Amino acid sequence: MLGVSPPRACRPAAGCVRRITRRDALDCKQRKGVKLNTTKHRHSGTRRRPITRPIAAAALGATLLTGCQQANQSLFIGDMSSAYNREIWWMSVWAIVLSIIIFVGVSYALFYTVQKFREDRHDAPPAQFHGNNRLEVILVAVPVIIVFGLSILTVRSMAILNPTPEQATKIDVLGKQFWWNFAYPETTSDAGGVVTNGNEMIMPTKQPVALTITSGDVIHGFWAPNIGGQRAAMPAVQKTWQVDTERPGAYQGNCSQLCGASHANMRYKVVALDQERYDATLAAMKAYRAPEPAPGSAEARGYALFMQGKSSTGAVSCAACHRVQGTPAGGVAGPDLSFFGTRRTLGAGMWEAMTDKKWEDPKAAKQLSDWLKNSPRVKPGSLMPTYDGSEYRNTKGELVKGGTLTDAEIDDIAAYLRSLQLPEEADYWRGSPVIGAGATGGNQ
Ligand code: CUA
Repeated sequence: MLGVSPPRACRPAAGCVRRITRRDALDCKQRKGVKLNTTKHRHSGTRRRPITRPIAAAALGATLLTGCQQANQSLFIGDMSSAYNREIWWMSVWAIVLSIIIFVGVSYALFYTVQKFREDRHDAPPAQFHGNNRLEVILVAVPVIIVFGLSILTVRSMAILNPTPEQATKIDVLGKQFWWNFAYPETTSDAGGVVTNGNEMIMPTKQPVALTITSGDVIHGFWAPNIGGQRAAMPAVQKTWQVDTERPGAYQGNCSQLCGASHANMRYKVVALDQERYDATLAAMKAYRAPEPAPGSAEARGYALFMQGKSSTGAVSCAACHRVQGTPAGGVAGPDLSFFGTRRTLGAGMWEAMTDKKWEDPKAAKQLSDWLKNSPRVKPGSLMPTYDGSEYRNTKGELVKGGTLTDAEIDDIAAYLRSLQLPEEADYWRGSPVIGAGATGGNQ
């Protein structure tokens, strides 16, 4: 190692194995008056290869491959159909442009100074100056003005994006391990209870929608990037949030806070409908009563099992945990199933039945029956009891033995669930383009 950095002319070229000789040192000493250490100056014997490039390529490849594993998991950030996203976008543009200007300015000043005041171009040390008040004031004032400007932009955006009490549409969002409920607090159903849908949120287009977000257990995160940013769902705290989109369609939502074994399976759909259709759908939801199954039908047998379970085999009732509007089922431990037959997602978006046959589709029907038999097996951390006799962990965390239902009985419950449909004209999926993730249907 050299004690003092030698003047450029005396320094061996990069990658060379040349030794600095005593003559070189004397030569430098004479020219520059600096002291040189003449210990062996040796680079590695072989020429150094630039290894950064292969490493960077490997890292990039790995990143891209990781992203490819679940292509339909990609989420669009910055969908300009949302005023929220536009606001954030323009704020980012300002911040990025300002950063680029600062970067270019500082880099220019740096390179200019280094070049202009190179040691080998000046014999005397550069002139020193201290206590330049004007310069010091400028160096403090400019960053303060920049930071102040950025804060004004941020506060302005926050004011624009915060929900106000006048907003027409309000939705209460509840996150729990590992599902969502979306309730319409201003719409009480004719059958009693606030209109609520599990895991699928419908909202009107072209207006801000005010959300009140909370959690029933741990911290979750409400995040549907096409309609706006993300907001934490915290237990015992009600957070307000505003989302919007101008484009009708079905959008992907995910939980954005690591919350347990099935965090990645805590998804939902947001279906944005034009005002008229939204109003009609909500009116149909308000008027909805779960259809009464015909006596003797599979749906009727399924209804009985749903409401009472089967005590002889220890199969607990579904109604204890789930609500179905217009029936005695009023459980709140699990997602609302009032419109299950209209819904196209199962297990909080883990499975999708995007064809018009919905849960009649053979693949989807199999997913539904696997789910009903033993949901913790197909969705880790699911708190639903099992119906194939295997052990499961209940809400208290205890390992308990599940009840049993025959395949035929499982099919009956599935038939009952499929029958829980809104009228055809109120099917919010009909004609709604699926935008972003899950557009191909069926994640698993
Ligand atoms: Cu809920 Cu992650």
